[in-house]
Amino acid sequence: MRTRPLKVALLGCGVVGSEVARIMTTHADDLAARIGAPVELAGVAVRRPSKVREGIDPALVTTDATALVKGGDIDVVVEVIGGIEPARTLITTAFEHGASVVSANKALLAQDGAALHALAEEQGRDLYYEAAVAGAIPLIRPLRESLAGDKVNRVLGIVNGTTNFILDKMDSTGAGYQEALDEATALGYAEADPTADVEGFDAAAKAAILAGIAFHTRVRLDDVYREGMTEVTAADFASARRMGCTIKLLAICERAADGGSVTARVHPAMIPLSHPLASVRGAYNAVFVESDAAGQLMFYGPGAGGAPTASAVLGDLVAVCRNKLSGATGPGDSAYTQLPVSPMGEVVTRYHISLDVADKPGVLAQVATVFAEHGVSIDTVRQQGRQDGGGEASLVVVTHRASDASLNGTVEALRNLDTVRGVASIMRVEGE
Ligand code: HSE
Repeated sequence: MRTRPLKVALLGCGVVGSEVARIMTTHADDLAARIGAPVELAGVAVRRPSKVREGIDPALVTTDATALVKGGDIDVVVEVIGGIEPARTLITTAFEHGASVVSANKALLAQDGAALHALAEEQGRDLYYEAAVAGAIPLIRPLRESLAGDKVNRVLGIVNGTTNFILDKMDSTGAGYQEALDEATALGYAEADPTADVEGFDAAAKAAILAGIAFHTRVRLDDVYREGMTEVTAADFASARRMGCTIKLLAICERAADGGSVTARVHPAMIPLSHPLASVRGAYNAVFVESDAAGQLMFYGPGAGGAPTASAVLGDLVAVCRNKLSGATGPGDSAYTQLPVSPMGEVVTRYHISLDVADKPGVLAQVATVFAEHGVSIDTVRQQGRQDGGGEASLVVVTHRASDASLNGTVEALRNLDTVRGVASIMRVEGE
């Protein structure tokens, strides 16, 4: 074994960073044996130096991340700060000063992955980011390496634990959105400002990364269609149950059947209870991958949290250190195709539409005609008269597969019918 240690700069020492430092210390001998050289924590860049950090030598702590990255022959920079800046500048500085990078930064990778990969390649460095998508779950490297000989056609994932916790709570207790969110906040699953999670921004960044790797093409954050889950109601769950489904916030990346384009989207959707993703409970994540040769695969585990995310970071650190020692780099960017990303209007799926209608002769025929005029084929219809005696009924229509554009046209026309008092909900049905 080489005795001269590989030097690691840790940028960020919050929930994840402190776990990375702890595991680097407590597992130092095993990590050295696995890598073939000891790994030394050369410095820890933080914002608040006065905070007591158990197990970290205060002499290593600095507020000058740039000086840490530039000085002292750093071999690997571990970036767990998050956000776009200063993370981006620190990573490019690391590459320019001889270091490879391990990052957990989904927002940065989704936005600037192409440029960062290009710079890493130009400089002969590694850029690894297993922790950026679905925390501890090995996913990026299985897609990038284990499935490199296969053709991935679809990735369907629960990649946000906060929203899965909320939806699971609504499903299992009948709670409304706000009540379930309040519980998620009280238990520390949801942040004080839950927007990034509940509006699907976090999942959209992960979808962009997954789609790019799975389909070997470039998918930017802006290419990902996004709908949050704040409007999912207890009534939607009751409807889902009646169809043998539950509701999940899904990140869905698909290759078109003709192989000529891809799509990436995040939205709530009904999935059958028989689908493996339906059994993903609480704050867990899971990603279901469909490929030509392997068939169906599911990756499951904790998608967030200090120690689970640190596990993914450490796995990358070991890989990058091994590459350093052998004088090589690992697999870099593989976006060798230039597949267009189709707009949401071209996405084809099934829909569950709940309408409040006048309960009188001819209404069902009128509604059915609107669907037919827009080329949307109806699979099932369920009507239920209201108990309130107001002459209204609830009409639930489930369609066969139709394009999002056709469905939107249908809904717009339905809203213009006098007999349709309201469109209570529209939900896609996936995973069939
Ligand atoms: N906030 C994310 C989640 C974890 O709830 O899954 C970090 O991406």
